[in-house]
Amino acid sequence: MNFELTINPIDKTEAQLEIILVVDKDFDHRFVKDKELLEKASFKAEQDETCLLIERDRLYIGMESISSENMRTAIASGIRRVKSTPYKSIKIASYMNHQKCTAVIRAMVEGFILGAYNFDRYKSKKSELNIEDIVISLEDYREFELDIKACAIALEKGQISAEATNFTRDIVNTTPDDCYPKIMADIAKKLAKSNNLECHILKPKELKKEKMETLLAVARASRHKPRVIHLAHKPKNPIATVSLIGKGLTYDSGGLSLKPSDFMVTMKSDKSGASTVLGIMKAVSELNLPIEVHGFVGAVENMIGGDAYKPDDVLVAKNGKTIEVRNTDAEGRLVLADTLCYAQQEVKADYIFDLATLTGASVVGVGQYTSSIMGFSDEVKEKVLKYAKSAGEFATKLDFNRYLQKTLKSQIADICNISNTRYGGAVTAGLFLSEFIDDEHKDKWVHIDIAGPAFVEHSWGENPSGASGAGVRMMTRFIEGIVRENSK
Ligand code: BES
Ligand code: ZN
Ligand code: ZN
Repeated sequence: MNFELTINPIDKTEAQLEIILVVDKDFDHRFVKDKELLEKASFKAEQDETCLLIERDRLYIGMESISSENMRTAIASGIRRVKSTPYKSIKIASYMNHQKCTAVIRAMVEGFILGAYNFDRYKSKKSELNIEDIVISLEDYREFELDIKACAIALEKGQISAEATNFTRDIVNTTPDDCYPKIMADIAKKLAKSNNLECHILKPKELKKEKMETLLAVARASRHKPRVIHLAHKPKNPIATVSLIGKGLTYDSGGLSLKPSDFMVTMKSDKSGASTVLGIMKAVSELNLPIEVHGFVGAVENMIGGDAYKPDDVLVAKNGKTIEVRNTDAEGRLVLADTLCYAQQEVKADYIFDLATLTGASVVGVGQYTSSIMGFSDEVKEKVLKYAKSAGEFATKLDFNRYLQKTLKSQIADICNISNTRYGGAVTAGLFLSEFIDDEHKDKWVHIDIAGPAFVEHSWGENPSGASGAGVRMMTRFIEGIVRENSK
């Protein structure tokens, strides 16, 4: 899809199809061109509602009000509506008069690219989207000082963040037999090459040398050997350093604490945190951000077999803490424990974020569409929430407390890998991870449980059924935000 900005009025712009957004309350207004036809089609201009008038070559989309969030989902439903129609080009006004800022353009471009996404790797018949060109007319922007450059930058940022999201979606949607730890490492290497990132891959021998015994224990029963991936975006004179750590369970069968069959389906998505980290690395390098960003991925498959790690085992993590295994399905925190320790040893960062499909409890607690945010710094958590909102992602805070901390106590080791209560599972998992954050990093760390939104088996908003790429846009915007706050 090619995007173009023009200052020509929309009527003087050439395209096969025109998209017109109708804001709910304006619907009765006389300037809606095809009022009668739309009424006949019972178009109510509700948010994301579409009405394609073939005879007029116009696609109407309803919107509750003009905001970035509404724009992104409205455009996504619009582009889905024109799939498998023969239209090749679209024209649309920028709708910036209502918002006075370029965020709406970025959201519009994201809506087109995110909505057009389709995962058809395993389909014999590939789905068709014929749209090649999209022209955005800045005509209605003339009330304000026309800053085409700012608009062009917003457009490019939208393209980069949406394409990075789709890159993540592709990895997550790939089956466990086509995407196992070595393949994850290959994807990272390829990305490093094309985007000029530093890349270091740790294989089992090196993982042993680094004393990453908990990660190795989880990996032991799989025929696919684990990898730890370290990517780095290193601009000259960076203004801050960020470390991102992703849970990369290329499959989570539960291990010997085997998942019931209904719960095992979709567990190819347990590599979402890792895939999101790769997507963020793609975005920050293409945005050329003056921030040093490190991405760490623990890529492991959790399987059963004669060599499997067991409930009752005691493992020693990289930082020396001993862990009593009571459930092999709480494996993500074991993989992350070692990967977090490794990340902190390698890089002294200003911010440390981990992203993980860590607990079903997060999904139960806050629903499928929302990520859970945990950590010790209210300031950093609040910032994450702010940038999630501007990216059109849902996120909410879950608080730690010392009583839940106590539920992780072990009789024979330093800590258990599961808590002794069935309540608050997302929080106890976050508290478990906090045991592997050094004191000096405690206020720099935020844990993001994306178990809900990372993979949903129906389409929602700008997201298709399957992988959503949750976290990519939220964290890319966070990192962009560091630059903005420093240039004030
Ligand atoms: N990968 C799962 C968490 C998960 C569940 C992600 C549903 C996405 C959707 C994780 O490894 C797991 O199995 N967690 C257990 C923890 C329990 C054993 C304490 C869970 O949530 O049941
Ligand atoms: Zn598990
Ligand atoms: Zn898991």
